[in-house]
Amino acid sequence: MRIDILTVMPEMLESPLNCSILKRAQDKGLAEIHVHNLRDYTTDKHRKVDDYPFGGEAGMVMKIQPVDACISKLKAERNYDEVIFMTPDGKTFDQQMANSLSLLENIIILCGHYKGIDYRIREQFVTKEISIGDYVLTGGELPAACVTDAIVRLLPGVIGDEQSALSDSFQDNLLAPPVYTRPADYKGWKVPEVLLSGHEAKIAQWRLDQAMERTRRLRPDLLG
Ligand code: ADE
Repeated sequence: MRIDILTVMPEMLESPLNCSILKRAQDKGLAEIHVHNLRDYTTDKHRKVDDYPFGGEAGMVMKIQPVDACISKLKAERNYDEVIFMTPDGKTFDQQMANSLSLLENIIILCGHYKGIDYRIREQFVTKEISIGDYVLTGGELPAACVTDAIVRLLPGVIGDEQSALSDSFQDNLLAPPVYTRPADYKGWKVPEVLLSGHEAKIAQWRLDQAMERTRRLRPDLLG
């Protein structure tokens, strides 16, 4: 899968996209992530990516020209399944959305900044608008990193143990059960006995019971 991220702050994406599992996914050729600095697509000598809003509101607005130039160049090179705009007024991101995006071939993610982007960009280019929650960040970069991370870890081969992406919280609308590692007894704080029993069916039942109990207690909304 290929993800192209368009931003005026490429530095904000550098470390989230180049560490740990996301780095390994790219090194293994399972995901291609390209970050484009919109300033490189400007045509004026000051490389301006924003300007004053018409109508005299406060704050700056991202200009249409660099976004158009970048998206047009990318679209001339390959087909894109979605052009996603990260915005607090988009649809709230969830695991189901991550699952369906992970099945796509090529996507563009556009990060907003300043007061917003020229609305014509949304009308002309954007096919999907995503929010990562009901709060406002300084830009779409961290949201884009969240969405990219959630998608890439689902790609086949990215997570060593294929089971582990499937058993995540939310994957079946249940919170994940607790997990433990050695030692089995630390300062008298013991790991649940059943996990040491080696009895696979009992362990599976315990995990399901725990998942149900935690979901009922912490996120009853998930159970409908
Ligand atoms: N840009 C600023 N805040 C955001 C949010 N909550 N989700 C997506 N993009 C954003």
